[in-house]
Amino acid sequence: MSSSTKPSALTFDLKARCSTSKARASTLHLPHGPVDLPIFMPVATQASLKGLTPEQLEETSCRLCLNNTYHLGLKPGQAVLDTIGGAHKLQGWDYNILTDSGGFQMVSLLKLARITEEGVRFLSPHDGSPMLLTPEHSMSLQNSIGSDIMMQLDDVIQTTSPDHARMKEAMERSIRWLDRCVAAHKYPEKQNLFCIIQGGLDLDLRKQCCEEMVKRDTPGIAIGGLSGGEAKSDFCKVVDTCTDMLPEEKPRYVMGIGYPEDIVVAVALGADMFDCVWPTRTARFGNAITSRGVLNLKHSRYAEDFGPVEEGCTCTCCRSKENGGLGISRAYIYHLAAKETVGAHLLTMHNVHHLLSLMRRARNAILEDGYPDFARTFFAEYFEGKG
Ligand code: GUN
Ligand code: ZN
Repeated sequence: MSSSTKPSALTFDLKARCSTSKARASTLHLPHGPVDLPIFMPVATQASLKGLTPEQLEETSCRLCLNNTYHLGLKPGQAVLDTIGGAHKLQGWDYNILTDSGGFQMVSLLKLARITEEGVRFLSPHDGSPMLLTPEHSMSLQNSIGSDIMMQLDDVIQTTSPDHARMKEAMERSIRWLDRCVAAHKYPEKQNLFCIIQGGLDLDLRKQCCEEMVKRDTPGIAIGGLSGGEAKSDFCKVVDTCTDMLPEEKPRYVMGIGYPEDIVVAVALGADMFDCVWPTRTARFGNAITSRGVLNLKHSRYAEDFGPVEEGCTCTCCRSKENGGLGISRAYIYHLAAKETVGAHLLTMHNVHHLLSLMRRARNAILEDGYPDFARTFFAEYFEGKG
């Protein structure tokens, strides 16, 4: 449980710690129900997980998904969100929502975004008019969205940027922007604001940032600025350095991470929460994530493969008719993949379920103090036959 005296809308219940790595198993109690950690959070950018109804998302066992402040702020816009009573009502989702603050998406999506101390300046993708997203405006939008976890507006630059001075400025500005977010947050007893550690690949900058962010005592802590094409060894060093400095009694979220192999490693380094568009996006390219690696079901070798997408998978797509599922075969996905969107919907269902199941097995392994064996088996199977 948290020892913080600041208002928050969560409790973090640490259940077990691995004896030979930094892996942890916990339960995070949020306003829309409990979430077992470690967890993967699928991304529903536009208040919808592409291809799934809220009911189908619930069936994957997802209890915490992402929305994006930038997208919802543009459409449907703050007035509609206020009238309808927030994003849970808008999308018919009774479980938890985490919103990213918007700046990262703008900088990565819009070439014309420009960052100043005030905020992120950009041209509206709708009508080209100049707009400014400040920490205050991001918080106001996230208050209207009513997300269970809100992210601070941060200054993110490409991890691999050689401009050290700019990296330092972005890290320091992110601290100042956190202070502005904390001051602007209207409902700290109803919505949890997480800070985001920046500092690129420079471990000293990361340490300074951790020290300052931890002082601000937010209910949870994110590590940002990764997933930008850095070497895996650099990724590990940054996560390892940060988790060493973070309080045990708060959830830790590594942003933008979704490859199973990266998640399994980051869990060993003490991280609890992950999100990425990859599992859902790759489904739309015909890719099925399985314990034995990623299969592209558009390949003609699956044209007459009548087995399930993944043997033993309990998702609605793979489960047999007798067991209440759809009993979908690889051959059917192959057949649909050419032009029918249902193939993408079914694979999205499978991929989200697969990652959530992987997280559940990881958690059970930590509870039984067998995480290193779990990780070894995962790697042996996932990369089987690839070297
Ligand atoms: N998504 C992936 N990385 C980041 C980051 O560093 N900041 C924010 N706000 N979102 C992200
Ligand atoms: Zn499945």
